Amino acid sequence: MDPASPVLLFDSGVGGLSVLAELRKLLPDMPVIYAADSAGLPYGTKTEAEIAARVSGLLGVLSERYRPRLATIACNTASTIALGMVREVLRIPIVGTVPAIKPAAEMTKTGVIGLLGTAATIRQRYVDNLESEFAAGKRLIRFPAPGLVEAAEAKLRGDPVDYNEIGHAVAGLRGQPGGEDIDTVVLACTHFPLLNDELQEVLGPDVKLIDGAAGIARRIATLVEGQPMARQAPDLAVFTSEPDSRPSFAKVLSHYGLERVERL
Ligand code: DGL
Repeated sequence: MDPASPVLLFDSGVGGLSVLAELRKLLPDMPVIYAADSAGLPYGTKTEAEIAARVSGLLGVLSERYRPRLATIACNTASTIALGMVREVLRIPIVGTVPAIKPAAEMTKTGVIGLLGTAATIRQRYVDNLESEFAAGKRLIRFPAPGLVEAAEAKLRGDPVDYNEIGHAVAGLRGQPGGEDIDTVVLACTHFPLLNDELQEVLGPDVKLIDGAAGIARRIATLVEGQPMARQAPDLAVFTSEPDSRPSFAKVLSHYGLERVERL
């Protein structure tokens, strides 16, 4: 194993940075390539066929070009739709992102769990299966929140967060039968933990927010255990459209350890 061979993190936009932050805590020396399909953002409003085609095509190209030791689909929408397909095509380990329904079901006291994701994620049979396997006997209230994807993208570019979108997402959960009793909310989109503080503020301090980022990072760390790792160049962020060139965005990327930016 070449110590400079990177771990590839893939998302439609900046959401996967929530996973990268957890990965840095466990593997500070691991070379990373962060790839965002910014030309395809948002995935959540696309069809299954469009998402599957983009994700498997792009991961093929990225793997050829950057020769990662492992790829992570740091995006619930892409994972719940295309993970199986990508695993069939690539010969490296592929880590997916699973909505954290299981830990939420273990945490809830009221038995009522909220789930925020993209429209494409929340309609997946994959989510139905997680619900029946791990949350039987509980109530899972789902709500699509595409506005939060945009709000997270804006926040990371240094723009103010639109609290109307936060309020809309929370009202969408609370307004459904049983919604008042929600005590745990699954953030089933990697963009949403980037708005943790804002969501917590509107949901109130008694509601627990849960996402899969730390679990994904642990899974990656297990799969690369014992492998040599050493950065030979600064870590790279790759975008499928012209990258935002504002210094405020470069500063955010650098905060996540991404010091070089490229267009695919
Ligand atoms: N970050 C992605 C997810 O986890 C979705 C954002 C989008 O709609 O592209 O589902």
